[in-house]
Amino acid sequence: MEAKEIEALRAATAGTAERTHFNNAGTSFPPDVVVDTVTAYLRKEAVTGGYELEAASQQQLENVYVSIAKLINASVEEVTIVENASTGWHLAFNGIDFKPGDEVITSEMEYVSNLIGFLNLKKSRGIDIKVIPNDAGGNFPLAALEAAISPATRLIAITFIPSTAGNVLPVAAIGAIARRHGILYLVDGCQAAGQLPIDVADIKCDFLSATGRKYLRGPRGTGFLYVRKEVREQLRVLFMDDHSAATVTETDFVLRPDARRFELFEKNRALMLGLGKAIDYALEVGVDRIWQRIQFLSGLLRQKLVEIPGVTVHDRGDMLCGIVTFSVAGKDCAQVKKELSERKINVSIGRAGSTLLYMNKKHLVSVLRASVHYYNTEEEIDLLCAALRGK
Ligand SMILES: Cc1ncc(COP(=O)(O)O)c(C=O)c1O
Repeated sequence: MEAKEIEALRAATAGTAERTHFNNAGTSFPPDVVVDTVTAYLRKEAVTGGYELEAASQQQLENVYVSIAKLINASVEEVTIVENASTGWHLAFNGIDFKPGDEVITSEMEYVSNLIGFLNLKKSRGIDIKVIPNDAGGNFPLAALEAAISPATRLIAITFIPSTAGNVLPVAAIGAIARRHGILYLVDGCQAAGQLPIDVADIKCDFLSATGRKYLRGPRGTGFLYVRKEVREQLRVLFMDDHSAATVTETDFVLRPDARRFELFEKNRALMLGLGKAIDYALEVGVDRIWQRIQFLSGLLRQKLVEIPGVTVHDRGDMLCGIVTFSVAGKDCAQVKKELSERKINVSIGRAGSTLLYMNKKHLVSVLRASVHYYNTEEEIDLLCAALRGK
C-alpha cells in the first residue's frame, strides 16, 4: 500500500487524528462511513418507526449476509448474524450433541471462553478434553494432532489467531486432517476476520465464529457464525423464536432451512448495517493487501522492539500476525500502558486469563499487546518505540 493511500484511509478514520491506536485486537477504529451508517439509521429509525424502517431496508439488511458470505467464501444460507463471537462459538459448540466420553481436541492457544465451554460440558456431559501443546518453535504440531485422534474424537476446536500471542494456527492443514477423519471442526476466527483472508472451503471447517469490532473495523456488539450447510441438521438449535422457525402450528414447528435458524428476530439493525459497511470497506481495500501491510508493520514493530534495552518480544511461530506481545523488564504492564496512554498511545494488556494454557505454560501473568492494523504507520511505530525508550 502506498503512503498516499494510507493517508487517504486515515483521513477517512476520525480516530487516527486523535490517538495512536495499537489496540486493534481489542477494538479497532471504525472508518467514518461505518459510524455514519449506524447513526444515520438510528436517526431515521427514531422518526420512521423501527419496523417500518426495517421493512423499507430489507435489501440493505439482506446484503449484510451477502457481504459476510463473500468475506469468508461461504454461501448466504450458511451465515448467522449474532452480537459477538462468543455467542456464535457457543451456539455451535453447545449445539453439538456430545455424549459422555466424546473427546474434544484443541490447542494450547485456545481462547479462554472456549475453554470454559469445554470445561462446562466436561462437568455436565462428561466429555474429555485433549490439548495439543505447541512444539519448541511455537508451532502447532500436526503430527501430534493425527496421533491424538481416536474413535472418541468428536470435535477439533481451534483458535485461528490467539488473543495474547502473535502466531497464526495452520487452520487449513488442521481442517484437512479433520475432514479426512470425519471429525467436526470449529474455528474461532475472532482475531482473524478482517486481518487475513478467510476461505471456509479451503479451511474445511464446519463452523467459524467471528466478531465485528476487531480487525473488521465494525461496530461493537456485532458478530457472525458460519455453519457449513452439510452439517446444519446435526446442530441442535439452542433457543428459537418465530424467526428461527419457518412454520408453526399448535402442535409442531419446522425450523428455517438456512443458518438463520440459529438467530433470534430481535437485533440491532443499525449495527448490522454498520457491520455490513465495515466488511464492504475491507473487501474494497482488499483483505490480501490488508494482511500484507499488517505483516509488514508488525514485523517492523517486533524488529524495533527487540532493539530496545529491557524489552522482550514473546511471539513465536513460523507465521506471525498483527498482534505483538512483549514485556518491559522491571516494569509493570499496567504502568507502561498508563504511561503510553498519557502520550495518546493505545496498547492493551493481555492477561493469563485470556489465553490461559499458553500463558500458564510460559509462566506469564500478563503481557503488553500492541496490535497493528493497516491504517497504522511507520511513524506511529517509531512514536511507540521512542516512548518505550523513555524519550
Ligand atoms: C480469540 C478470541 N476469541 C473470542 C473472543 C471473544 O469475542 P467476543 O468478545 O466478540 O465474544 C475474543 C475476544 O477478545 C478473542 O480474542
